[in-house]
Amino acid sequence: MFRTSPSSSDIDDKFVKRDSDMLSQIYGSEELTPYWIADMDFPIASAISQAMQQLVSRESYSYEFDSKTLFKAISKWNKELHGLELDAEHFVQVPGVLSAIALLIRDFSNEGDGVLIQTPVYHQFRRLIVSAGRKVVSNTLSIDDDRYLIDFEDFERQLKNGSVKMVLLCNPHNPVGRVWTKAELQKMVDIARQYQVLIISDEIHADIVFEGASFTSIASLNYENSLTIIGSPAKNFGLNSISNGYIYSDNEALREKIKATSNSLALDHGNAFTTAASIAAYQHGKPWFEEFLAYTQNVRNWIVDFMANELRQVKTFKPEGTNQIWFDFSGLELDSSQLKFLLTQQAKLALTPGTWFGETNENYYRMNFAAPLEQIQASLQLLKSSIEKTV
Ligand SMILES: Cc1ncc(COP(=O)(O)O)c(C=O)c1O
Repeated sequence: MFRTSPSSSDIDDKFVKRDSDMLSQIYGSEELTPYWIADMDFPIASAISQAMQQLVSRESYSYEFDSKTLFKAISKWNKELHGLELDAEHFVQVPGVLSAIALLIRDFSNEGDGVLIQTPVYHQFRRLIVSAGRKVVSNTLSIDDDRYLIDFEDFERQLKNGSVKMVLLCNPHNPVGRVWTKAELQKMVDIARQYQVLIISDEIHADIVFEGASFTSIASLNYENSLTIIGSPAKNFGLNSISNGYIYSDNEALREKIKATSNSLALDHGNAFTTAASIAAYQHGKPWFEEFLAYTQNVRNWIVDFMANELRQVKTFKPEGTNQIWFDFSGLELDSSQLKFLLTQQAKLALTPGTWFGETNENYYRMNFAAPLEQIQASLQLLKSSIEKTV
C-alpha cells in the first residue's frame, strides 16, 4: 500500500535535500521546506523493502549477478505500461543514469564535439558534457502560451552545422514537464537521420506520465542510431540512492561498444541490494506505483488549480509528466534578490533556481511535488500570503 508518511521520523537527517550546509549555501537559510531535489518524500513499496530485508537477514554476500531476471522484468513492465517491446538481451547495465550519459558521451563523441541539449534542461547534462571536454549546444525550447515546444528550425540548423555529434534528449522533460509526443520524436529522428547524428534519450521519468499524455520511447521509433536510458527505478519507485542505470539499444554495434567500455572500467558489477530491490519493484510494485501516480497526479491538479485561482501572477506550466512543476514569477515584477527573499525568507520554500537549468530569466523556479498534499498546501498558502504582503 502506498503511504505518504515514513514509519520513522528521524531517518531524513541524512538526506541531501535537508542538509543544513547545502541549504545555507544555496538559499542562505536552513529553515526551509525542501522541494528542490527530484526525489520523493514517500516510503517505498513494501514489496521492495521485503526483498531487501530478506537479503539483510541472509547475512551472506558472495558474488552474484542476476541482471537477466531484471532485464526481463523491465521489459515486461514497459510492455504493460507503455506497450513498448524491449528485447531483454539488449540492455547494458551501468551504475546510474548519469554515469550512463557520461559513458555514452565518451564512447560516441570526441573532445571538442558538440552535444545538443534542449534548454532549460536538467542541469547535470551540461556538467557532464563540459567535464568530458565536449561543447554544449543549446536548442532552446520555445514557449507557446503555457506549453514548451521544440524549435525544430533551430534544431535542424544546429545539426546541419556539423559540429553536433549527439543529441541528448530528456523525455519526459525535466524541468518543463513535457512528455514528447510520437510526432515530435519522429520529427527529431528524421532530422537526426538526415545529418547522421546519434540520439541519446534519458527516460528516467518515463513512468510518471499523467492523464491526457502518453509516453513514447525513442526505442520504439526504429532509429538505428539511438540509445535509450530506460528502466531506472529511481523516480518511479523512490530508489534514488540505490538504483542503477540501464542503457538499451537494438543496435548491436552500439551495444557491443558500450559493453566493452563498461567491462573495461568494471562498471557492470551489479550490487545485490540494488538488483533485488529493482526486481521486486518491477515484478511486484505495480499496485503501489499506480497509487503513487494517482496521488501525485492529484497533487499536480491541486497545485495547478490553486495557482490559477489564487496566484494568477505566477505563470504555472502544467506538467504532463515528471513530479516537477515549473513556475515563472516574472509577473510579480520583483528583482531576483527580492524574489529570492520572498521565496526563502518569507515563504520558507527551497525551490530549484531556474538558472541551474540554463534558463536565463532569473524568475523561473522548479518545485518537486512528490510530497504530502497537506504539506504542499501549507507551503503554497504561505507563498500566497507572502506575496500579498510583498507585492
Ligand atoms: C533527467 C534526469 N536524469 C538523471 C537523473 C539522475 O539519475 P541517477 O541518479 O541515476 O544518476 C535525474 C535526477 O533527477 C534526472 O532528473
